[in-house]
Formats: sequence, structure tokens, C-alpha cells
Amino acid sequence: MEKSKLKVFVTRKWPVKVEEYLLGNFDTQLNARDEPLSQAQLREALNNYDVVCPTVTDQLGQDLFDSTLVQTKLIANFGVGYNHIALDVLKGTGIEVTNTPGVLTDATAEIAMMLILMSARRAGEGERHLRAGEWSGWRPTHMLSSQVTGKTLGIVGMGRIGTRLARQARHGFGMRVLYSNRSRVAESVEVELDAKFCSLEEVLERSDFVSLNCPANDETRHLVNQDNIKLMRSSAHLINTARGDVVDEMALADALLRRVIAGAGLDVYEKEPEVPDSLLALDQVVLLPHMGSGTVETREAMGFRAVSNIEAFVEGRPLPDRVAMS
Ligand code: DGY
Repeated sequence: MEKSKLKVFVTRKWPVKVEEYLLGNFDTQLNARDEPLSQAQLREALNNYDVVCPTVTDQLGQDLFDSTLVQTKLIANFGVGYNHIALDVLKGTGIEVTNTPGVLTDATAEIAMMLILMSARRAGEGERHLRAGEWSGWRPTHMLSSQVTGKTLGIVGMGRIGTRLARQARHGFGMRVLYSNRSRVAESVEVELDAKFCSLEEVLERSDFVSLNCPANDETRHLVNQDNIKLMRSSAHLINTARGDVVDEMALADALLRRVIAGAGLDVYEKEPEVPDSLLALDQVVLLPHMGSGTVETREAMGFRAVSNIEAFVEGRPLPDRVAMS
């Protein structure tokens, strides 16, 4: 098919440079108002466009594909995580899915490190205290917090982001690194980072900070839960920049409330954009609005990465970031 005839549907507003490229090269429908789409609008898009470009806010569940009217042949996701797409029903349908790996590694690892620092050093709490006009001046015992340098970081999911975070933590803050993962990382990486491969339980038990960096899937749903959160140290902090449902939020809120753990730093939630009141009520949790990949550089790179998948598709080349359907 001629490139300019390819019908591309973009579900949310993308960085201007990428939108201009899409408009100049394909028959593109944008969402200038950036309003989240209803299921009916998503169905309409799938039934009328060759390529649909969703984000994490679009639930592409089984029922949307339960129709012979589906026209879409490529779902070029804007994002690395694709747990919002019903991959299991797409297998064998000829519909391909791509994502945007690699380009958001630095930005997401930065946010994870920032949450470690903010949670440990009570940065959110301190800022709220100052802005509320409550600060009466420096004093030796005011708002004491935990040092990060030299502590132990446990990483759950040692993929690109987990490894980058481990590097920042090891080289920037002299932290000891433990990790749990489906398999061991290359020996050279373990040696460089002095990283120890452990079970999830060991990571929870032995870390001062536990950072979740694994993908969301059936196996990782509520990976941290009521039963195992109590393995964590009472001085420990839990950091989540992966997906909300990797942690049982109610169990986390309860553990924070009862001081089973000291703090948490979250960028993702089970039912975004809802954040449970039980978390909002707590001072010892830093809450960010899913901004891990949200730098100008990264969001543009994510958009162009999706573009390169669309171009490969229309030119009949192998898709660079094809998501495997098992
Ligand atoms: C990602 O890329 O997975 C980000 O969390 C946004 O979806």
C-alpha cells in the first residue's frame, strides 16, 4: 500500500513533532482535544483504520476484537507496557502489536531513583510542610530521614529499566544491589554492579529499598501482597514505577498505616487515574501521576519509535518492536 494512503488513528495527543510527521506521511487521524476515548470510539477506530496507536489509557479488551468488522492490522502502542491490550485474543488473527522499548529506559530509571530519594529523604512531606507555612527554622532534630547512600537496593525485574536503575544506584550512590528476575542477567552485568541474584522473598527481606521494574502480566499481578509485604524491613521503602497491579494497593496502604514498612514511592496505580484515599491520607508515601517516561526527549522518541514500526509495517519489513504473542 502507498504510505500516504495508510489510515492511522492516534488515540491521544502526541508530541507536536511526531504528529506533524504522521500528518505529513500517512492518512492520519489525531485526537487534538486529547480526551480519553470511549470503548465505542475505540471500536470505531479498529473497524475503520489500518493502524491504531493506543496508549496505556486505552483498554483494548477481547470484546473489541470480537467482530469481523475489525480493519486494523497493526496496533502500534505508544509505550513499552502493553498489558492494556488483549494479546491472547490477537494470536492467529494477523493483527500485530508493537511497543516502544529502549527509548524510555533513562527517564523511567530516573523517576525510580527520584522516588527512592524522595521517599527516603521525606521530600514531599518537607515541601508540603514548608508551603503550609509550618517551617519554624533549622533545628538538629527536624524532619530526620534515612540516608540512601550505601544502602541496599532490591530490584524486582532486571530488564532494561531495572538494570539502568541498578547502575545509577551502584555508581551514583554506592548502593548494594540485589535483584530477582526470571533468569540471571549476564555475568558481566552482575560483576559490574556487584549485583546478587536472589528470590523475591530474599529481595523483600534484605533490602532497604525495593523497586518494582517488572512487566505487568498474570504472573506479576499482586506480586507484592499482604502475605509477603511483611517480609520487608520496618525501615524499608517500596518503589513502584512498573504497573499499579504489581502491588496489592490495599495491602500496601495497610502496611504503611501500621508501619510494617517505612514508606513508599509510587508512579503507577491499579485503577489509574484513581488513587485510593487510603494512600492519599498517608504522609509517608510519595504519589506521582504516572510520569516515568514523561520527558520531552523521551516522549518524542517514543512517538518516533512507534512511527518506525508503522513504516516497517507499510513497507512490508519485519517490525522492529513486534510484541511476541505466546
Ligand atoms: C510505558 O511505556 O509503559 C509507560 O508506562 C506509558 O505507558
